[in-house]
Amino acid sequence: MNVLLIGSGGREHALAWKLAASPLLTKLYAAPGNPGIAREAELVALDVSNHGAVVAFCREKAVDLVVVGPEGPLVDGIADALRAAGIRVFGPSGHAAQLEGSKGFTKDLCARYDIPTAAYGRFDNAADARAYVEKVGAPIVIKADGLAAGKGVTVAMELQEALDAVEACFDGAFGSAGASVVVEEFLTGEEASFFCLCDGTTALPFGTAQDHKRVGEGDTGPNTGGMGAYSPAPVMTQEMIDRTMDEIVAPTMRGMAEMGAPFTGILFVGLMLTENGPKLIEYNVRFGDPECQVLMMRLKDDLLVLLNAAVDGQLGHVSTRWRDDTALTVVLAAEGYPDAPKKGSVIKGVEEAGAGDIQIFHAGTAFKDGNLVANGGRVLNVTGMAAKVSDARSKVYAALDRIDWPEGFCRRDIGWRAVEREG
Ligand SMILES: Nc1ncnc2c1ncn2[C@@H]1O[C@H](COP(=O)(O)OP(=O)(O)OP(=O)(O)O)[C@@H](O)[C@H]1O
Ligand SMILES: [Mg+2]
Repeated sequence: MNVLLIGSGGREHALAWKLAASPLLTKLYAAPGNPGIAREAELVALDVSNHGAVVAFCREKAVDLVVVGPEGPLVDGIADALRAAGIRVFGPSGHAAQLEGSKGFTKDLCARYDIPTAAYGRFDNAADARAYVEKVGAPIVIKADGLAAGKGVTVAMELQEALDAVEACFDGAFGSAGASVVVEEFLTGEEASFFCLCDGTTALPFGTAQDHKRVGEGDTGPNTGGMGAYSPAPVMTQEMIDRTMDEIVAPTMRGMAEMGAPFTGILFVGLMLTENGPKLIEYNVRFGDPECQVLMMRLKDDLLVLLNAAVDGQLGHVSTRWRDDTALTVVLAAEGYPDAPKKGSVIKGVEEAGAGDIQIFHAGTAFKDGNLVANGGRVLNVTGMAAKVSDARSKVYAALDRIDWPEGFCRRDIGWRAVEREG
């Protein structure tokens, strides 16, 4: 099969690495890709927002399957354009991608199907949102409705902070993504990520993970795209998985099908495990980054076979097998991240550090004058595996310390919750 992978981050490098291991694969293309992905795929300079150009490329190269990594193109309807042209694609339609593209869409679905989630109000003007916030009081959560690159959510511990967040949204801080606002009840508990491979009808559990959103050790400082992750998440016991499937995922699949937008692709279920059981915080309609990196390390099966089964509505006939080990990944970021990461510094020793069973996925790198250089905020994902979380962590940091990059930094405490549980 010829496959086109869309995206350029560490998530897509991990997907490319796993796809390249499939005996079914003839040729892998990636648009736009990155230097790590270039080892597994031919990079193509396609403007992925130009759906006509992507369709034309697929026809010219006889592409049998398109795998879409990030949410932007999905919410933009790239899967619809490809399907309309008769090209197979792994990823939801624009309508189904509203599960991530509109927080209010998902909350309304939860209300209609009695899916456990935080109580909420949905507003298209500041005055009504303000009145609701004042009535409920802090702590309270303010969310821009649309895609805001992880920056659209304010967990406000004080009333004034919540009111300021409402103003910021309606003042255009997030552009059109903030023209509508969801105000939510503040939930307490431990967060976990759960993934399901979906074919429109069947949802197949596809692993658990926990990530680390804050830039600083001990979960302090500003939010980031994610500074590290591990899988499995011990807090996601079989009981929690069963409850999440029954109470959250199954009604979502049914609801989406009933509204004529069956969900195909990977459903990322962001959960708060409260004392009353799992509650949905959010859906994403793509793999997490860096959660994907640890899932791909643990997946024993041929990823391409599974993606094909999802696209062809055959997930009822497949199963998945996972390594029991814990996989852990640490993000190496460029100084200044998340606000203003510095680009261009030279990174050495990556090949050596990635020896043995360590995988180093490229997230934001480029080649310049024969050197590997930083080209983004999150730059490398150093990933390893071991039976114990603490051993996986030691292995990863030992490899990471062999990388010579003075302008980079990482958190040294990735996995702390699971390490603590291990005792
Ligand atoms: N109702 C809530 N109660 C408490 N904390 C919350 C609530 N909703 C969101 N949060 C916190 O804010 C974070 C971001 O919220 P959410 O996942 O909805 O936003 P997002 O911008 O879509 O995130 P991502 O970039 O991970 O997709 C959550 O991971 C959680 O820590
Ligand atoms: Mg999200």
